[in-house]
Amino acid sequence: MQDKPTTTVLVTGAAGYVGSHTVVALLERGYGVVALDNHCNGSPVAYERVQKLTGASFVKVVADVRDEVALAHILSTYPVDACIHLAALKAVAESGQKPLDYWSNNVGGLLAVLRALQHAGPCRLVFSSSATVYGVPEFSPVPEAAALRPASVYGQTKLAGEQILLALAAQSPLSRLATLRYFNPVGAHPSGLIGEAPHGTPNNLMPYITQVALRQRHELSVFGGDYPTPDGTCIRDYIHIQDLAAGHVAALRHLLDEPGSFTVNLGTGRGTSVRELISTFDRVNGVCVPSVVVGRRSGDVSEYFADPSLAKELLGWCARHTVEDMCRDAWRWQLRNPEGYT
Ligand SMILES: NC(=O)c1ccc[n+]([C@@H]2O[C@H](COP(=O)([O-])OP(=O)(O)OC[C@H]3O[C@@H](n4cnc5c(N)ncnc54)[C@H](O)[C@@H]3O)[C@@H](O)[C@H]2O)c1
Repeated sequence: MQDKPTTTVLVTGAAGYVGSHTVVALLERGYGVVALDNHCNGSPVAYERVQKLTGASFVKVVADVRDEVALAHILSTYPVDACIHLAALKAVAESGQKPLDYWSNNVGGLLAVLRALQHAGPCRLVFSSSATVYGVPEFSPVPEAAALRPASVYGQTKLAGEQILLALAAQSPLSRLATLRYFNPVGAHPSGLIGEAPHGTPNNLMPYITQVALRQRHELSVFGGDYPTPDGTCIRDYIHIQDLAAGHVAALRHLLDEPGSFTVNLGTGRGTSVRELISTFDRVNGVCVPSVVVGRRSGDVSEYFADPSLAKELLGWCARHTVEDMCRDAWRWQLRNPEGYT
């Protein structure tokens, strides 16, 4: 299981959904971890759970990722070999209402991390991007070469992050930079100890489904039942969070071993409709999630799913979990943590 026992990774946004699962994957493989988070959307309880799950200790720093003094202190104190940069704000609708916060956090945060890393030596960085950079793709499966035209401020900040990395790679060929375009991460660690714990109303479908299943919400609104898809609802590429975490480790391993920079999709390559996701959730968990079809949401694309072949070719990574696994694990997490991390 151990990959690089002497390698230390700075993980920003480590207390969040992707971060907590990625830290578990790193610790399980013997990496050292320095976890940074300001807890604006992540809980320190996640760290206790990570420690319980792995039996491994790691460094925790409470700081804003834009705090260059804190970053310099981390890099001069710990032997950081690479960074997985996850810290960001991620709510698409909110990004239109608070554009300055999104640009500052998502682009300002990346710039601060890159400056600090560059000061310490050539950058080794894995960057969380998103399939939202594709905007409305013309076809699926979507390859990395598809047109990039994000339709939200959030997506624009992710594309700007990608462009910053491209510029850095061109100027500094010794840098090694990995851009990961996630499709739709769902599910939870199979232990039910860590999972997605949104503050307030969930922006994503799966936490909404689990909260309705728990009767914390009345019913699920399905946005649009008249799309040109077999059952009329939108189709997305849901990827189990455990597969996504493994994708970060695979990208990191490649960066540490090989020169150069790359951009890959992390998705399953399979599309699942909203109706299919709800009916699978009901079936595998023996529950009934009441839902009602309402009007389309502006900006929603009828169907998109990844072409994940480049990640397989380059990193030897592919998604292994099924939609059934995603539904089971999401429900186990919700049942064990009805109020999230408390
Ligand atoms: N979950 C998804 O659906 C999804 C999809 C595509 C891309 N992403 C990207 O993946 C990354 C992780 O997303 P997530 O789902 O884990 O979100 P999350 O909100 O659960 O985790 C992000 C973490 O970053 C922290 N953070 C935010 N701004 C910070 C700052 N300025 N300084 C320090 N910490 C800060 C938050 O407290 C939180 O713990 C983000 O970059 C997000 O844009 C997520």
